[in-house]
Amino acid sequence: MTVRNILIAVVLLGAAVFLYRGLATPAAVPTGEALASVLVPDLSPGAREGETLFNRSCASCHGSNAAGQDGVAPPLIHKIYEPGHHGDMSFHLAARNGVRAHHWPFGNMPPVEGIADAELDKIVLYVRELQRANGIF
Ligand code: HEC
Repeated sequence: MTVRNILIAVVLLGAAVFLYRGLATPAAVPTGEALASVLVPDLSPGAREGETLFNRSCASCHGSNAAGQDGVAPPLIHKIYEPGHHGDMSFHLAARNGVRAHHWPFGNMPPVEGIADAELDKIVLYVRELQRANGIF
């Protein structure tokens, strides 16, 4: 074996180990898993509009049915966000100004562009109906 062949063998072995470890090691932080199991009730017409708006502007982070996404954003169907702790205004402020990370390890929420107050009211209606159906009020 020449030195060159040995070098090639070493490089190939290294690549194989690297690939194997990459495939075999689970990601440290799985992303995307829902963080709450949310029961979806019959929604009022206003809340259904809110759902559409939520899916457009919020669900990419907060997940469908506001169940959260591991590694991304918290579930809003959670005791922390019951009306007594986070009143309706906190939803408006969150969308308007963003949120500095404080309850969760997911980083800051950036302000949400292009959403009107009336649309946020419907999103709040939607989230509150989901919360109530899941024993959060
Ligand atoms: C880019 C990702 C992202 C998007 C899009 C997003 N959020 Fe958030 N949101 C977060 C994260 C992360 C937090 C958690 C901050 C923390 O650690 O408390 C959060 C927190 C919140 C809170 C809690 C605020 C507080 O005072 O603690 C509310 C309410 C909220 N989001 C509503 C919304 C609504 C409504 C939308 C859509 C209009 C939305 N979010 C879109 C990432 C996002």
